[in-house]
Amino acid sequence: MDWGMENRLARLIQSDGHCMFLPVDHGYFQGPTSRLENPGETIKPLVSMADGLFVTRGVLRACVDSRNSPPVILRVSGGTSIIGKDLSHESLITSIREAIRLNVAAVGMSIFVGSEYEYDSLVNLGKLVDECEDYGIPVMAVTAVGKELEKRDARYLGLSSRIAAEFGAKVVKTYWCENFEKVTTGCPVPVVMAGGPKCETEREVFQFVYDGMQKGAIGINLGRNIWQNKYPVAMMKALRAIVHKKATVQDAQDVLETERAKAK
Ligand code: 5RP
Repeated sequence: MDWGMENRLARLIQSDGHCMFLPVDHGYFQGPTSRLENPGETIKPLVSMADGLFVTRGVLRACVDSRNSPPVILRVSGGTSIIGKDLSHESLITSIREAIRLNVAAVGMSIFVGSEYEYDSLVNLGKLVDECEDYGIPVMAVTAVGKELEKRDARYLGLSSRIAAEFGAKVVKTYWCENFEKVTTGCPVPVVMAGGPKCETEREVFQFVYDGMQKGAIGINLGRNIWQNKYPVAMMKALRAIVHKKATVQDAQDVLETERAKAK
């Protein structure tokens, strides 16, 4: 691997081999998502604890301090909205020139395996990887499911993740699922877990993150389960303990309670 590519990946994946990315890209198809109406305010107390920020160029320029930012993973796919016909009909919406101008550590795009636009999203991933390889920029592929959350099982996510890796993604972001080891063992590049809609309890979040880490994930890219929580800093610290400090579910729960008590 070339120095630039290696250096960018090392900025994102820490020396323990793990990473905790903070995604705030949801507005690119959902608009002003709950608790992300003002992304700058949402991320202010959290950025110092994030190993990477997953964000569009619009929010990056408008809401993120260029002098005080974690490494950026720039979302470069889009073109659909939550009220539109089909969330899978995405294209590449941001150029590599722009990614370089913004000094990003990686770019990210969604693929929609099994959807009507499977072909387009996969060919776009191939093109993006081709261009990014020229400049040493890693691509994170997101195995998106659109509105079909029930697709999140090991067979589907394993298939999507493997295809993303075959197309040259350096990191795959997918959902946690039962038998998650089937996803990670079939995917020859590092896998990070997204969270999906907010869980009922924090313990549920700690349980799936812990399970996924035991089963081969290198980290998380968790948004709503952090910043839609009433105590996002406490959530961030508790999850960091699982990702970077080998904490158990109960350890994370203890961190959450201690930090929540401090914040009250
Ligand atoms: C949205 C995304 C998000 O980055 C991803 O879904 C992670 O966020 P969450 O944990 O809230 O699901 O790709 O387009």
